[in-house]
Formats: sequence, structure tokens, C-alpha cells
Amino acid sequence: MPVDIAPFQARRARLLQTMQEAGGGVAIIPTAPERIRNRDTHHGYRFDSYFYYLSGFREPEAVLVLVAGDAPKSLLFCRSKDIEREIWDGFRFGPDAAREAFGFDEAHPIAELDAKLAELLANQPTIFHSMGYEPDWDRRVTDALNRVRAQARSGCHAPAQIRDVRSLLDEMRLVKDAAEVATMRRAADISAGAHRRAMAATRPGAFEYEVEAELLHEFRRHGSQAPAYGSIVAGGANACVLHYVDNQCRLQDGDLLLIDAGCELDGYASDITRTFPVNGRFSGPQKAVYELVLAAQAAAIAAIRPGIDWNTPHDAATRVLAQGYLDLGLLQGSLDGVLESGSYRQFYMHRTGHWLGLDVHDAGEYKLGGEWRLLAAGNVLTVEPGTYIRPADGVPEAFWNIGIRIEDDALVTPAGCDIITHAAPKSVADIEALMAEARRG
Ligand code: GLY
Ligand code: MN
Ligand code: MN
Repeated sequence: MPVDIAPFQARRARLLQTMQEAGGGVAIIPTAPERIRNRDTHHGYRFDSYFYYLSGFREPEAVLVLVAGDAPKSLLFCRSKDIEREIWDGFRFGPDAAREAFGFDEAHPIAELDAKLAELLANQPTIFHSMGYEPDWDRRVTDALNRVRAQARSGCHAPAQIRDVRSLLDEMRLVKDAAEVATMRRAADISAGAHRRAMAATRPGAFEYEVEAELLHEFRRHGSQAPAYGSIVAGGANACVLHYVDNQCRLQDGDLLLIDAGCELDGYASDITRTFPVNGRFSGPQKAVYELVLAAQAAAIAAIRPGIDWNTPHDAATRVLAQGYLDLGLLQGSLDGVLESGSYRQFYMHRTGHWLGLDVHDAGEYKLGGEWRLLAAGNVLTVEPGTYIRPADGVPEAFWNIGIRIEDDALVTPAGCDIITHAAPKSVADIEALMAEARRG
């Protein structure tokens, strides 16, 4: 249950206001379905991010309906109380307690949704719905619309437009409010602690999954409900597989270990990558590439402030990396030539960041009207340059199989940005000191 329902009420009020400015109508925002993992066993339940953003309500089988107008109102449809089911599956609020606890104007049993929707949609101009997001809901909303159309002879008219409610919500979700920032800072702190624990626990001969277990232990013991995404614990050449999640290999003396892992806390993701030596000391070539990626990240972070466009940090990081590839003899030619031809993509093939929030790759457009969008205070984005060197002709062997990414989470502030994941060490000196300390016991 949310500690403070005021932020959720404020978001509902803002969406209702935006809907009203768009001509009014009814928004239908269902939570996520439960999903079967095998036979009669479910995946761990995770609510829908849009639904949770507006409601704070975590139970499955729930739908939020917002009616804009002179007397705007928010209605929750949820599971009824059921003592028999609660003995097996646990507490459920039921409509009356949910209305009270979460501050809705009305709450009704989910079984009444279809009948009530037809009433609520009558004589409204627009349905705000995430068309194409969940096929079951597309059909249910269309059925409700057809029931209203069927009443035409009694003088009521059906909504003439369907608008994607996500286009309104994504803009809101891009700028985090104070409650979201507070939760994201806590999630970032937990994840930073997990990376410190993983560095301290890493030894040659250990398995990747043993280090993953250290991360999960730290997430969970601080109240995180789940990892925000599948943890990547990639030793040696595995670090050159961008979405490696097997985590089954034994860690080798002399290799690097790349860990991309972050917890989810109360719905909000954190996303951190650190790369460090399995034996606690960087080799010369590892250090050279590591310092390059760190410098690229520093250049990207230095660029972040309100008013710069989304692509500027990426350009800053790419420029540093491209020059570094020339200096290290990984590429030949001129900086302009490498940037223009895109030959740097042999070693850096992804972008430097993404929005972060309720979803790890969070909602929100990156371009508006064909132009990169400008950053604003309250945006949260990752900054995650990397370098992945697969064996190839012309690539000095000393660098083969080095894969390095360094990823932090940045909150855009009026003056620049705040790196909320700073508690995870990343300078060569800090990493080596932490690992040496852990070995001293
Ligand atoms: N861990 C997912 C990402 O970094 O985008
Ligand atoms: Mn990541
Ligand atoms: Mn990321």
C-alpha cells in the first residue's frame, strides 16, 4: 500500500485536466494480467506501469476509469472481497476499502466493469485507451463502444474518437515528481550497494551465478521486490554479448567481469553497469580501454543539463571513444573519418542511454517533430557508453575479448545533473581499493 496517496491523486487530476483540454472523454487504464509460467503456476505478478502511476494499486484484475468534465471523477474496478480466496492467495482490498485507502471517487467490483463502461461512455466525445497494447482490452473496449452504439435509438451517442492515452501519460512520466525521485534514489542506493557487494565477493574460480546471487541477496534484503531486468553477469568474452543473461560460466583469473544489474523498488527501476577485474587488478590493456570508456562517460555526463538535445551526450561519448580507438590502434584514419563512416560501431554499437523510470527502458519520445527532444529538469536517463572488442583481423590481440560498459543513472537538475548511482565505485583506484580491502577480509 502506498505510504502517501497524494502524488497518485495529483497525477490523476493532471491527466483529467489534460483530457478536458483535449475535449473531454473517458480514459480506461487496466492493470497487467497475471501470466502463467507453467501449467498452474504464475510468473511473479507485476502491475502495469501506467495503471500504477495513476493509482498506486498493486492487485491484479483492476481497471482505472477516469471521466473528464465539469465534475471529473476517478473510478477503480477491482476484485471483491472473498474470504475463501484470501485464505489461499492473501489479502485483497475489495472496492470499499480500496476507494478509502487510495482516494478514488468511486470503486466497484471488477465484474461490473462491462455494464458500467457502457453507461460511462454514453454521450462522451472520446475514449482514451492504449489501442494495440493488450488485444483483450482492445476487444473489451470495442464491445463497450458497440453497446453504446446499440443504444442510439434511445437518443444517446457513442464516442466518435479513440485516442491513445499513452501519448498524454508518456509526457507526464518523463518529468519525475518528488515522490518518484525519492523512490528512484532509494532504488539507486540499493543497486549501488549490490554492485559493491558483488565486487567484494568476486574471485577467480567463482561462477557468474554466484556473483548474481550476491546481487539478488542485496536487492531483496533492502526491500526491492524484483530485479528491474535480467541481471547480466558476464565474465571475459561473455561481456561482448550485449544481452548475455546465462550467467553460468566460471570466472577466470585475468578476465574482466561486466555486471549490468539494477533492482526495482516500489515499481521504479535502477540500472547500473560496472566492469572490474576478476582478480582485483586491471591489466595494462584492460586499464587503457577502461579509462577510455570512463572518459567517454564523463564527457556525456558533463553535457547533461536542461535545454540540450537528447543526442548531445551520445555525441560527446562517441567522439571520445572514436579518438581513443585511434590512439589505441584499434582503428586507423582521422577522427572525422571514423565518425563520418561510423567505423567506431565495430566496438561501440549501442546508444549512450535511455529514459529510466517505472520501466527500465522508460516511456517517452526521444524525438518531437523529427528533432531530438530537449532535456528538462526532472528527466531521468542512463549514461552507459561501452566498448566491446571481439577478435578480428587488424585488432591488436592484447585487446581481444575485452568488453566494458560503465552505466549510471542521471537526474536532470536545473543546473546540470545528479548521478544518483554515484555510490557504486567506478574509478580504477576505487575499484581496486574496494577489492583489495575485501580480500584482506
Ligand atoms: N540493463 C538494460 C540496459 O542497460 O539498457
Ligand atoms: Mn543496464
Ligand atoms: Mn541501461
